[in-house]
This record gives sequence, structure tokens and C-alpha cells, in this order.
Amino acid sequence: MPPTPLQQLIIERIQRNGPITFAEFMRMALYMPDYGYYVTGPTRMGWQGDYYTSTDVSPLFANCMGRQLYQMWEQLKRPSPFVVLEQGAGRGHLAEGVRCWANHHSREDDFVAALDYRIGDLRMGQDAVAENEPSDATAQPHVILSNELVDAFPVHVLEKRNARLYEVYVHVQQDRLSEVLDEPSSPEVADYLDSYHIPWLSFNDGWRAEVNLAALRWMKCTARLLLGSSPRRKRHGFILTIDYGDRARLLYTRHRPRGTLVSYFQHQLTERPLVRPGEQDITAHVNFSALIGEGRKQGLRLHKFTTQRLWLESMGMDDELERLRTHDFAMAETQRSSNQGQIALLKWYDLRQRAATLTDPASMGNFKVLILKR
Ligand SMILES: C[S@@+](CC[C@H](N)C(=O)[O-])C[C@H]1O[C@@H](n2cnc3c(N)ncnc32)[C@H](O)[C@@H]1O
Repeated sequence: MPPTPLQQLIIERIQRNGPITFAEFMRMALYMPDYGYYVTGPTRMGWQGDYYTSTDVSPLFANCMGRQLYQMWEQLKRPSPFVVLEQGAGRGHLAEGVRCWANHHSREDDFVAALDYRIGDLRMGQDAVAENEPSDATAQPHVILSNELVDAFPVHVLEKRNARLYEVYVHVQQDRLSEVLDEPSSPEVADYLDSYHIPWLSFNDGWRAEVNLAALRWMKCTARLLLGSSPRRKRHGFILTIDYGDRARLLYTRHRPRGTLVSYFQHQLTERPLVRPGEQDITAHVNFSALIGEGRKQGLRLHKFTTQRLWLESMGMDDELERLRTHDFAMAETQRSSNQGQIALLKWYDLRQRAATLTDPASMGNFKVLILKR
């Protein structure tokens, strides 16, 4: 396989300056201007691309998000405007779905009028891991939400060998990218697992773990964006983030001997993140203990930490399905033998199957929903 243009750039840089951390490799592979996976176009998302998200699976997801935002609006005493910022919004489909739910289903004109839903994405030049200050007080968000954002941040990778932790670096061997182990690149990386009391010393040699320092920076920046810098502008609000991952003690276990880092290329999961840089997605599970801990440091409180399945249930997805079955798809029951009845039945099966995908405990249903509050 001839090297991709980005692979060539990475090789040249390593030949010039020496090995780079895996996090730096991942940053270049995903975010390098003009070449990185996330900066070179939306065609990779959705059913045709490399991956799909809950928003692609079913509109019921956006409807639940709409109901969640409505609840938050009420808890915040119905501010107007009610500014919601979605970070890493991709093609903006969740935003469209929420606006559609608000217009057609919320039956609350004040909410529709107040909702000011804004989106940002790295591809629009809005980096969620950078200090962002709204230009005026009215743009300060009440809610900052994200779906499958934090798993895309660059991670450092540690490997245990002979009672020590080494870091994985990317090096060039015979004109190909390869891994090499060396001392951890910083004290933060070296001490990360100990700060969550992970008993890595008792794990087998070759055990690996990812360290997402960018997630800590993101929480810090996002909390500050929510709280505002001027004491007069500090107010109540929420950060909501959904992703795959878990608390540290359930994420970093002996049962995951090679960590959680994976790559996706055209819906195929691969465990070769060094091949095709810029052309495949690379992700790692999120350490939610880190987000909760950093949020607390910034003055936020834990409001909810649950699975996507339970969150969707608590946001009334089952009730909505039942309402649709007895109302919109009644024909599937009453006129089964007619063509229209058959079409309604097939559409109903499709909707129900998609809802089951969102709540499947073996995949999306086990995603975690974290809500921090102030
Ligand atoms: C897996 S996609 C999820 C897209 C969308 N949230 C959804 O649920 O369909 C991750 C998105 O995060 C964006 N992204 C990654 N890193 C980012 C960053 N540091 N700041 C802002 N957006 C980022 C990517 O460009 C991409 O659109």
C-alpha cells in the first residue's frame, strides 16, 4: 500500500524530530488541517460513511433530547433566550431533530420561542478543547451538550512491562510507522492511572490503557464556558455528554488487556490505528470518572450518570413508541391485509428495530449519559 499524503508528512516529521507520542500521532491523523480525518468532510458519517451515531439510527433520540432540554429549561426557571450549545455537532442532525421536536411536539410556545440552539464543530473552526468566551452575555450557554465527542480526542497509550508503565510512541521503521515503548512523556501521563487507584501493577505484562488528557482540558474549558468568567455572569446550567466508556475502575481492568483503542474504516472495526492515517477514525472509550472529577474541580455537581438505555426510558421513549403504535401505525393492526396496512406494519417494525438498537445493552444502550450541573 503506497503511503497516504498524511502518512508521508508524519514519516518526514518523525525522521526529522524523532518518535512522537501516540496522542500526537492521533492528533495529526484526526485533526491536521487539510488532511485529518475529522477536517476532511462529512461524508464519513452516517450509514454510507465509516460510522453512524444515535442520531442516524432514529429520530426518537433527538425527541428524547428535546424532552431533556425542556426539563432543563423548566429547572432553570424558563430563561429566554434559552441558549443551548452542541459541541462536535457533525452535520447538525441532532440540532435539526430537536428543533423539529420543539416545533411539532413540545406544545409549549414559550419553549419554542426561547430555544436558541447553536452548533459548533471542529470542521467549522470551533475547537471544543480551547478556551472559548462568548462575545456577549446573551450568548452564554445554559446547556452545553455533546454526543460522541470526547471519544475522538487524542489519547496517550500506556503499556505495563516488568512492573513499570511505559508509553507507546510512534516511530518509523523501514519507511513504515511502527510502535516503540519509552518513558511516559509527562508526569500527568505517568500518574494518571494511580490517580484513579487502578491496580495496574497486578495486571499481566502487555496490559494497555489510554490516557485522555484532552478530555480533562475539555471539561475545564466547557465548565468555564458554562459558568462565565465574570462573577456577575455566573449562573445555573448543565453540561450533558453522551459517549461510550465507564467509570475508571470499570474501564481499566485486567479483562481489557489491550485497552479500548479501535479504528473504523467503512464500518469495519480494525485494530491497526497506524495504517491509513487521515482515512480512518480512531477512538477510545471515555473515562467518565475523569470528567466527573474535573467537573467538580470547576464547581459543578454530578446530576446524573446513567446508561443511554435508562436515560431514553426516563425521557419517555417507550411511551412515545406506544403512542406511535396505537396512533400513527394503527393501520398495521386494523388493516393488516391491505397494502397500506402492510406498509404501516413494515414502517412500524423498522421504527421498533431502530429503538431497540438505541437501547441494546450490548452496544448503544450501554453508552453513558453524564449530566453535570451548577
Ligand atoms: C463521532 S462524530 C459525532 C457527530 C455528532 N455529534 C453525532 O452524534 O452524529 C464526532 C464529531 O466531533 C467533532 N470533533 C472532534 N474533535 C473536536 C473538537 N476538539 N472540537 C469540536 N469538534 C470536534 C468531529 O469533527 C465530528 O464531527
